[in-house]
Amino acid sequence: MSQNFTAYNIIQKKRDKGKLTTDEIKWFITGLTEGSIADYQMSALLMAIYLNGMDKEETRALTDAMLYSGRVLDFKERHFIDKHSTGGVGDKTSFILAPIARACGVMVPMIAGRGLGHTGGTVDKIEAVKGFKTEISLDDFQKGMKERGLVLIGQTKEIAPADKKIYALRDVTATVESIPLITASIMSKKLAEGASGIVMDVKTGDGAFMKESKKAKLLAQSILETGVRFKKNMMTMITDMNQPLGLMIGNSLEIIESVETLKGKGPKDLTELSLSLAGGMIYLAGLAKSHAEGIKKATVVLENGEALKYFREMIIAQGGDPSFIDDYSKLPTAEKTIDIKATKAGFVSKISCKEMGLHCVKLGGGRMKAEDKIDFAVGFVLNKKIGDAVKKGETLLTVHYRPKQDSLVEEIAKSILTKDIEIKKTKPTKKKLIQEVKVKIVRK
Ligand code: URA
Repeated sequence: MSQNFTAYNIIQKKRDKGKLTTDEIKWFITGLTEGSIADYQMSALLMAIYLNGMDKEETRALTDAMLYSGRVLDFKERHFIDKHSTGGVGDKTSFILAPIARACGVMVPMIAGRGLGHTGGTVDKIEAVKGFKTEISLDDFQKGMKERGLVLIGQTKEIAPADKKIYALRDVTATVESIPLITASIMSKKLAEGASGIVMDVKTGDGAFMKESKKAKLLAQSILETGVRFKKNMMTMITDMNQPLGLMIGNSLEIIESVETLKGKGPKDLTELSLSLAGGMIYLAGLAKSHAEGIKKATVVLENGEALKYFREMIIAQGGDPSFIDDYSKLPTAEKTIDIKATKAGFVSKISCKEMGLHCVKLGGGRMKAEDKIDFAVGFVLNKKIGDAVKKGETLLTVHYRPKQDSLVEEIAKSILTKDIEIKKTKPTKKKLIQEVKVKIVRK
């Protein structure tokens, strides 16, 4: 590889809409991983990529450079399957589908992400559970997979370390919503963790990074092609993110809603999507003849309590205190709550998912700066979703917050009542939750 490259020239080339070579991309990402490229140089390149895009060849080179920045596992057998989402608000399906899939015989090596922009992260959420370790060595990850077949961890220094750095920079530099950057970020982790198949939940709508369905389809295609290039069985689903998934937003609250769903008492949309994604994992694993049969199998283990058993086992195995499963007060809880009430009657026609996610970040449920600490306790519980009838004075949602946040909550309430939640006289037509499913089986 040529050593005449400079970060300046590469940034300048992409800034001026040039096409980067595979060697240039590899050199830059290797430099970032080894520490010779500074965070501010990476941030500048990220912004140039965000603004000017990358073609298929560049996306492929970026994905590969990020993938090979660390170790690459391969569990080889077909029934090792993971799922990932492109990020949403209230999206807690991983906690529900992973034990469901495991209970159906799927091995689930899950390396999840932290919050990104206005979206919450699986790793941040599960850290609301006292003692739960998300940072374990790759050797322990492999050992856990062998012994139990379900391990949920955050990114390690060994798995796609370039993504670990880039992800944290994108979170705070407004460079998230980019097809090549999302493809490389997700697929570098997912390909490195060694699963033989991946179910991808590509979100679309106001709360998604790909707001328009056309762009969501392009992202789904980019991810599917990348998986197939590495001989992975792939399923991509395009799902609606025009309102939060389920009723709860915020770290502890989302863990509670996940447990409720595993107890068979979850909201309809969250239950349906979790079962469909789990069904996809079961199908890709070769443990069902079709996606529909996979969903049926998933439903059985949700209803008979088997999935909840695997969830409890995972919490204990990774050092967590499982008592919260039977007593939610064991999770971090905010001291104050306030109900936000409808100022008129009608039907809920809009819940701005992105704004709700950003409000949660402002309360401390996400990060504004890379080094921010998460407050697990804060968040929202929705009482109404799009299409629901509402009376004047009825509670739209409840805010969970800290004593010093009175004026912030006042601001949030004003924003919610004046623009983030709309109430109209006529009932709106609801968007379909699961809008497209594509499958490619390459390992039989
Ligand atoms: N999830 C990821 O891991 N990366 C992204 O870029 C978006 C969602």
